[in-house]
Amino acid sequence: MKIIVTGGAGFIGSHTVVELIDCGYDPVIIDDFRNSEKFILKQIEGITSKPIKHYEIDCGNVKEMKRVFKEENPDGIIHFAADKAVNESVNNPLKYYENNVSNLINLIKVIEEYDIKSFVFSSSCTVYGEPDSIPVKESTPTKAAFSPYGETKQMGEKILLDYFKNKPTCNLSLLRYFNPIGAHRTGEIGELPIGVPNNLVPFIMQTASGKRNVLTVFGNDYDTPDGYCIRDYIHVVDLAVAHVLTLKHGVEQVHQPLVLNVGTGKGHSVLEVIRTFEEQTGEKVNFQIGERRAGDVPSIYADNALITSVLGWKPKYNLGDALLHAWKWEQRIQQLMN
Ligand code: WQD
Repeated sequence: MKIIVTGGAGFIGSHTVVELIDCGYDPVIIDDFRNSEKFILKQIEGITSKPIKHYEIDCGNVKEMKRVFKEENPDGIIHFAADKAVNESVNNPLKYYENNVSNLINLIKVIEEYDIKSFVFSSSCTVYGEPDSIPVKESTPTKAAFSPYGETKQMGEKILLDYFKNKPTCNLSLLRYFNPIGAHRTGEIGELPIGVPNNLVPFIMQTASGKRNVLTVFGNDYDTPDGYCIRDYIHVVDLAVAHVLTLKHGVEQVHQPLVLNVGTGKGHSVLEVIRTFEEQTGEKVNFQIGERRAGDVPSIYADNALITSVLGWKPKYNLGDALLHAWKWEQRIQQLMN
């Protein structure tokens, strides 16, 4: 069964492509490599021993996208292609509205004439804004997003829900991720931030490996038990498996639009992440406390009961596993990039 994976060379996309192949699907990657590296395709082939078909296309290029869909006639789509740095979106909102919203609309226009059975959309816990209560359930009201990134995910969900109302033959699933971290257990694929990392875990890795001098922690005066922000850090392979199970559910049976939290159900503070990394690896993280960062919410983590009951999905890895795998990948990158 052929599955189009937009952004398939990216962090979550590449791990999902590996899991799709392991489950017998035939993924085809569409990626313009603005946020990913081409050599990752070879790495995926090395892990799966399968050739990977890919098209180097911007999802905004409707003509080219139509050519690919005509050629591939896929049964399902997993749409990852988007920008995803909360703080970057505050400084460059138009980039986010163009890539995350107008390119989604372009994609929908392309698939109109195809019989897509399952459409899986990469959404985000940022749609909840600053929740009144945690853990958040799918029924927790979404509030004003704290960043343009969160706005684009709220809009994406609304656009898709409205559009697929009149398309009962295609099963829509919106996956609200929490904080994806870690790397493949082989250490052969992982997160590849372009330039200075926006996210905490890659910044920790680059500080520990000496690429960065110091990690700045954006505030420790929040109303949380230790004053540091709390997030739900989910292993990227657990997240990838959730995508495959969701896609499978959509291609095998007709269902109402699904909105699912994909998180571990546990919250960890920034300090706990740093200390867990140090305990797991014996490495030291040089960090300093800085000002709060625009767009950050103090605390959010998932109630993941729904995805467990609908798909039988449960996270396999814990925070320590994810940080160890991320560290193994950080050391591998040196060899691959030289
Ligand atoms: C986590 C914590 C920072 C960097 C991410 C993704 C977003 C979405 C949700 C999927 C915060 C602190 C960070 C640093 C720091 N996932 N931090 N110093 O902002 O929760 O968003 O998860 O859609 O796509 O970006 O993740 O890792 O940037 O921040 O102190 O150098 O780490 O303040 O409290 P965030 P993050």
